[in-house]
Amino acid sequence: MNINITWYSHACFLIEYNGSKIITDPFITGNKLATVKPSEIDTEYIFVSHGHADHLGDTVEIAEHTGATVIANPEICNWLADKGVKNFHPMQLGGGYNFPFGRVKMVIAHHSSPLPDGSYGGNPCGFVFSLGGKNIYHACDTGLFYDMKLIGEESIDMAFLPIGDNFTMGPDDAFKAIKLIKPDEVIPIHYNTFDVIIQDPKPWVDEVNRKTDTKATLLQPGDSYTL
Ligand code: NI
Ligand code: MN
Repeated sequence: MNINITWYSHACFLIEYNGSKIITDPFITGNKLATVKPSEIDTEYIFVSHGHADHLGDTVEIAEHTGATVIANPEICNWLADKGVKNFHPMQLGGGYNFPFGRVKMVIAHHSSPLPDGSYGGNPCGFVFSLGGKNIYHACDTGLFYDMKLIGEESIDMAFLPIGDNFTMGPDDAFKAIKLIKPDEVIPIHYNTFDVIIQDPKPWVDEVNRKTDTKATLLQPGDSYTL
């Protein structure tokens, strides 16, 4: 069965599989690249990688109007409960869980995670989604780390990797990450949203396609892709 992926820019993806809808890091309000409004988002699950405003984003509003379950670390779940969010599934680094739509594992990301009001937001993370035999690694915000090799051992069909630099890996380290993860495919993310993460993704995509066995695809915000 196909997996349909829509990139709303930055780290925000809508993943549709077998009738289920999942959104990640829904930073829409205040995101100049976003092509949707929070009120237009329909989802059953919201995955939040860390507490920064460009990832937590519109989680509260979307959870309110959809009734979606938020999956994040316990600190973020507790903080969201105080904001009125009702449905949660807390997870911690290294843990996996079989959701009705598939399995998700919370994996390491080297970054930080304070919440917008300065509250402690626990550890940042990435996610590996296993949907009907296909594995998607969403690195979220992270620097390059050698243990990406271990994530790659899970046979990654698709990786979402930041290339923006400054706050995360830049293009050179994201290229090295591909050599560690060896995904079948990659989509570059987390660039051009802010002035300090301006990148031209085209040369990076071309270099990946020319020099590695990984197929890189350049999406524009709002584009969909079928895996
Ligand atoms: Ni961040
Ligand atoms: Mn970020």
